[in-house]
Amino acid sequence: MKELSSKLKKLIMEKKNNYIKQYLNKIYSKSENGIFSSGNSGYWSNLSKDKNNEFSKLLETKDCKTAVKSFIPKFEEMIFSSKREAGLELLDHKKGGVCIDYGSMWGVLSVGMAKRGHQVIAVDQTYDSLNFLKTRSIEEGLENIHLVQDDIREVKFKDIADYAIVNGVLEWIPEKSEVIVSEYYEKKVSKTKSSIKKKLLKHPRDMQVEFLKKVYDSLNTGGQLFLAIENKLNYAYLLGRPDPHVNLKFTTFLPRSISNVISKIFRKKDYRTYIYSFSELKDLLREAGFKKIDDYCCFPMYHFPSLIFPNSNEGISQYIAYKDKNIVTWKQKLVFKYLEVFLMKYLKFKNLSPAIIVVAKK
Ligand SMILES: C[S@@+](CC[C@H](N)C(=O)[O-])C[C@H]1O[C@@H](n2cnc3c(N)ncnc32)[C@H](O)[C@@H]1O
Repeated sequence: MKELSSKLKKLIMEKKNNYIKQYLNKIYSKSENGIFSSGNSGYWSNLSKDKNNEFSKLLETKDCKTAVKSFIPKFEEMIFSSKREAGLELLDHKKGGVCIDYGSMWGVLSVGMAKRGHQVIAVDQTYDSLNFLKTRSIEEGLENIHLVQDDIREVKFKDIADYAIVNGVLEWIPEKSEVIVSEYYEKKVSKTKSSIKKKLLKHPRDMQVEFLKKVYDSLNTGGQLFLAIENKLNYAYLLGRPDPHVNLKFTTFLPRSISNVISKIFRKKDYRTYIYSFSELKDLLREAGFKKIDDYCCFPMYHFPSLIFPNSNEGISQYIAYKDKNIVTWKQKLVFKYLEVFLMKYLKFKNLSPAIIVVAKK
C-alpha cells in the first residue's frame, strides 16, 4: 500500500513537472544547459565575474556545500541556512502548488518552496547564480525546480502561479546597471552605467509598480505573494546606520530628491534603490492590484529572521529580546539592542521595525 501511494505521488509530481516544462517551453524558445533563456541577461552578484567563473569550475569537481565552504565560506549561511526560510511559513501552503521565485539568486527560497512540495520557477538575470542553483537542485534531487534566465521586469507569466516570492528584490528593480555587491558598496560606478541612456530610465517607483503588476498577473486568483524588504523607517537608519543598498547615511528616509543629490555627490549616480515604509509599501501593492495585504514586522532583518509578527497592536506585544550574533560591542548593544527593546517593547514603535514582510493575495 505504501509503495503504491509513493508511486502515485511520483506520478503526480512527474505530471506537474511536465506541465511546467511545457508551459516554459511555450514562452522560452531557447534553453541552454537546462536553463530556459529569453536572451535577456544581467549581472547582480556578491562575486565578481572572475570569481564566479572560478566558482563554476570548482562546482564541476566538488559538491555545492564543499565548494561554498572552501571558496566563499562567508556565504555558507546565506546559501544554506534554513533560518532564511522561516518567513515562508506565513504562506498558506496548499499541496503541490506552483511558485515563481523572482530574483532567486542562489535559490535559498526556491529550495525552501521546492522542499515544501511546490513546483518552483526560479527566475534570475544572472547566469552564474542559476548555474549554482541548477547544480544544487540536481545534487539534492529537487526535480521540481525549473530555471529561467530572464529580466523579471519583462516576464510574460499569466495566471500560472499559486505563490510568488520577491525576497530582497523589489528595491533592485529600478537599477539597470550591473551590480557586483562589494564594488557597489565601495561607491565605484558600474562600467555599464554610461551605456544606459538616463532619459530612457523610468521613475524608480513606476518601475516597481509595473513589476508588481507583472507579479500580480502571474498569480492565479487567490495566489499569494511573499515579499520581504528593508523598512525605510528602520530605527537604525534614523540613527545613521547606512542605507544597505548604497552605503550612504539617511538616504532611505530623506525626501527622494535630497537622497538623489546626496547620491550624485558621493556616488556620481542617481538614487534609485527605493525602499518604503509599511504604509507606502501597501499603497504600492494596492496600485499593482493586490487586495488582501497582511504586513509583518521582522527582526533583526528578513535575511535571517529571528522574530516575525503582525504589524498590529497585538503583534508588537509579541516582541521579545532575541540573540543577534552581529551585535558584539557595548556600543552596538547600547544602540541596537537596548534601544530596540525600549522602542519596541515599551514604546511599541512597530512602524520603526527593521524589515517588512508582506503576504498579499490576488
Ligand atoms: C539581493 S538578491 C536577492 C536574492 C534572493 N531572492 C534571496 O533572497 O536570496 C537580488 C537578486 O535579484 C536579481 N535581480 C534583480 N533585478 C533583476 C531583474 N531585473 N531581472 C532578473 N533578476 C533580477 C539579481 O540578479 C539578484 O540575484
